[in-house]
Amino acid sequence: MGMEQRVLTLADQPATESLARSLAAASRPGDVILLAGPLGAGKSCFARAFIRAIAADPALEVPSPSFTLVQTYPTDPPITHADLWRLNGDSDLIELGLDFSDRMIYLIEWPDRLGDAAPRTALHIALAWRGAESRTALVRGPASLLGRLLPG
Ligand SMILES: Nc1ncnc2c1ncn2[C@@H]1O[C@H](COP(=O)(O)OP(=O)(O)O)[C@@H](O)[C@H]1O
Ligand SMILES: [Mg+2]
Repeated sequence: MGMEQRVLTLADQPATESLARSLAAASRPGDVILLAGPLGAGKSCFARAFIRAIAADPALEVPSPSFTLVQTYPTDPPITHADLWRLNGDSDLIELGLDFSDRMIYLIEWPDRLGDAAPRTALHIALAWRGAESRTALVRGPASLLGRLLPG
């Protein structure tokens, strides 16, 4: 499986939201998007814009699931948004709903907590600070997936 990577500059929050919306438009059930980066990098901001785009509801409430760990949205396709920051080592990922069904889209913050359970076909997005508003997104994944989600 050939891997590819792309580096994007996200000048401000609308740029992050616009990236999320274009990935949402090209996404399919079974896609897994891992969102890495430090606190405040924009992981939840990305997830919120992505979920609102799939829901076709720009005002949909999308809280950060840092206490519930997992939040599933009955969209079409359904989306599971997870924030694994507080995951205990022995928590059962399947019990949390992270069974990586091919009928669901997964958006996962703090994906390093998945360890070996992270699907090899996932798209990795690592967000890093460049300044108060600006972020770098390092996007990495199978060439076929990158080609579909980020054409051009
Ligand atoms: N380019 C940007 N992309 C995303 N968020 C940004 C950007 N610039 C500033 N922000 C701000 O950074 C914060 C990101 O918060 P959040 O998405 O909750 O981060 P995380 O989930 O990574 O901890 C928000 O307050 C948002 O307004
Ligand atoms: Mg977050």
